[in-house]
Amino acid sequence: MDERVEANRRHWDEAVPVHVASATYDVANFGHGRGRLKPVELEEVGDVRGKSLLHLQCHFGLDTLSWAMEGARVTGADFSEPAIEAARKLAEEHGIDARFVVSDIYDLPACLDGDFDIVFTSYGALNWLPDLERWAGVASHFVKPGGTFYVVEFHPVSMIFDDDPDGTDLKVRYPYFPEFGPIRSEDDGTYADLDATFENKVTYDFPHPTSEVVTALIDAGLQIEFFHEFPFGNWKFLPFMEHVDRYTCRLVKNHGSVPLLYSIKATKAA
Ligand SMILES: C[S@@+](CC[C@H](N)C(=O)[O-])C[C@H]1O[C@@H](n2cnc3c(N)ncnc32)[C@H](O)[C@@H]1O
Repeated sequence: MDERVEANRRHWDEAVPVHVASATYDVANFGHGRGRLKPVELEEVGDVRGKSLLHLQCHFGLDTLSWAMEGARVTGADFSEPAIEAARKLAEEHGIDARFVVSDIYDLPACLDGDFDIVFTSYGALNWLPDLERWAGVASHFVKPGGTFYVVEFHPVSMIFDDDPDGTDLKVRYPYFPEFGPIRSEDDGTYADLDATFENKVTYDFPHPTSEVVTALIDAGLQIEFFHEFPFGNWKFLPFMEHVDRYTCRLVKNHGSVPLLYSIKATKAA
């Protein structure tokens, strides 16, 4: 495995128990009422009842299990063994029928048979991947003829700004284009627990412009149905953002000036 990907995996393995225990993921209250899917993907993916759904980079499975609560037959995949162990435990605790697979995304076609009505991935997945052409090939491989691929992600434009906790305004800090990356970080804390400390602090982020994502999906044989951009996100990754409700954050001063999320729906010809 690429040493940078291996460093990321060590970090994610260590992040799993932190995230499972975090107030952000609020595992104790999972399953009361609806799942944890956000209005954007619920609306845009649509009715999943009776459909097979593969969740790529599923972390410890809360969203995967949430799709099962919406009626899908779910499979989640992630390269972190502790994440998949936690996902299986949660599925059992909640009596949800779900299958989980440990695999680096690029090796998944060798570890998982079959194809799916829906291939889904979301929020903070693509930035960990060094090669989007291969990623799109894997995603397309698992979409049934006539099936759907859907991604909702943090907009890469929103990721170029300085995220220093003392920042007060938009200031460009990180590269947008991949040839200037990857971005090496060596930090404690995660989006789900800012105070967590890590032994495996080093991570590598791979910036991917939206044009790269769209082109990779087209080249992998998928037909783009829509590409949407949104002026809101779902977590306060810049200190001068504000929560509008549980699942919606926006820039206070520059609301509407910067895209914070994007989504793409694509289909494979029947
Ligand atoms: C930010 S999390 C995704 C969060 C998810 N959307 C959620 O709401 O919980 C990113 C996930 O990608 C996984 N990941 C990173 N690189 C990977 C790779 N090369 N292959 C498979 N999984 C990977 C990590 O283990 C982690 O669970």
